[in-house]
Amino acid sequence: MATKIFTMAIIGLDSELVEVEADTSGGTHFLIVGLPDAAVMEAKERVRSAIKNSSLYFPRGKTVVNLAPADLKKQGPSFDLPIAVSILKRTNQIPDTFAERPKELFAGELSLDGSLRPISGILAMAMAAKKLGVESFYVPASNAPEASLVPGPNVFPVNNLEQLVNHLSGKEIIEPFTSSDINLKNQTSQTEYDFAYIKGQEHAKRALEIAAAGAHNMLMSGPPGSGKTLLSRALPSILPDLTLDEALEITKIYSVADQLPADQPLMTERPFRSPHHTASGVSLVGGGTWPRPGEISLAHRGVLFLDEFPEFERQVLENLRQPMEDGLVTVSRVAGTIPFPAKFMLIAARNPCPCGYSNDPYTNCSCSPVQIINYNKKISGPLLDRIDLHADVPKIKFEKLQSDELGESSKDIRARVQASRTIQENRFKNTGIFTNSEMSNQQIKHFCSTDKESQAILRQAVEQLHLSARAYFRILKLSRTIADLEAADEILSKHVAEALQYRPRVE
Ligand SMILES: Nc1ncnc2c1ncn2[C@@H]1O[C@H](COP(=O)(O)OP(=O)(O)O)[C@@H](O)[C@H]1O
Ligand SMILES: [Mg+2]
Repeated sequence: MATKIFTMAIIGLDSELVEVEADTSGGTHFLIVGLPDAAVMEAKERVRSAIKNSSLYFPRGKTVVNLAPADLKKQGPSFDLPIAVSILKRTNQIPDTFAERPKELFAGELSLDGSLRPISGILAMAMAAKKLGVESFYVPASNAPEASLVPGPNVFPVNNLEQLVNHLSGKEIIEPFTSSDINLKNQTSQTEYDFAYIKGQEHAKRALEIAAAGAHNMLMSGPPGSGKTLLSRALPSILPDLTLDEALEITKIYSVADQLPADQPLMTERPFRSPHHTASGVSLVGGGTWPRPGEISLAHRGVLFLDEFPEFERQVLENLRQPMEDGLVTVSRVAGTIPFPAKFMLIAARNPCPCGYSNDPYTNCSCSPVQIINYNKKISGPLLDRIDLHADVPKIKFEKLQSDELGESSKDIRARVQASRTIQENRFKNTGIFTNSEMSNQQIKHFCSTDKESQAILRQAVEQLHLSARAYFRILKLSRTIADLEAADEILSKHVAEALQYRPRVE
């Protein structure tokens, strides 16, 4: 009879149960069947060597390993360990306790000498294992901290195949891994950039504070050298702490994308991604033959910084529209589509024209009108409509540049941002969202009631500025954040008035 054990296959950000069955009979071949990719096929060589080099016995006859369900594509080296274990059970080198339901899960890549190497996607597997009621999860030792982030199955850190065989035969027990304490407070990066050292630009700083508080999108426009890049780089210094749920969401994405730092089981800082303007559509939104998360998903719950915004390919920028609306991106693959979360705040910076001086009172612009029109055409109306905060970053005056006066420190600004984020967390408890920018229209109705005076201002703005329905709802969300920064329960007319200031001027 074939021996059955269980492992997980990563599909997008989720993970599905896979049965591994080994059978041995006459012949001399070692076969793996059940839609394996090249890396899984190579498991044959690694598994054979790992077993032989661990003072264990590899069957001489024909060995067939079946990965089921057969229609699910198996990818990557994580099947090495389950394949080895199924062969060792089949040849009675490990006691075979047959289970219909997965009590034990195995995942890991094998080296030729039998030691285990870390794999990607462990957190996604652990979350699925918890749902399935798995009791024991055997993982490469260096993956154990990540696997134990969600309380669920016992996580057994395995160093090598021999150690696992001894454990499963009861000779030498491996102790389950107990997770270390997770502290997410005040983890925000100590960047070298502090708002205190950025002179002037109060308007842009205020807009960045609002953006950070409610996770809103923002576009900065101004001539070269006015400090747009500098301001954006300082943004991480005022971002609020991650909640544990947010940290787990981010970690799952980084783990599947194989971008989790080796010594860091949990992502503790909000991501700040700044892809270059030559970035391709796939690298920005995700995809590929085996779909991987793109920059917008790696920026989930953090910042996607697009410097020199109009220099990006227009089509690449248009790809951002749908994820900016839905907070997720669906990547197509041969069999259906895969969703990746992408709730990022877009921070973009641009010059007013290719040479940068079209609005400058002191320097002549060298661009032709057609060049300026073409430059501005790169960013479509619907994309601009999704940006809540439009801030001008003008050239600063010499006196300001020269003065030694320090601005407000990032620490103080961050304290206000954090307080307003805590208000939002409480507001949205158990709703699955964390920030004002994520509110649905229904939630806006519920949480953003306005008084008569505010309504009058809004009506005037919608009529005079010809605002779209989307812009209207976005202004309400922004007003909510501005009110939260003052810990005001009600949205007042001054909050709405400030929110309206950040809409783009109609040219
Ligand atoms: N407001 C400012 N306060 C202090 N230094 C500034 C300011 N604006 C610009 N700088 C200096 O000028 C350099 C260029 O600014 P940068 O942010 O790259 O400009 P931009 O992106 O708008 O072209 C910065 O590295 C910084 O040294
Ligand atoms: Mg710049």
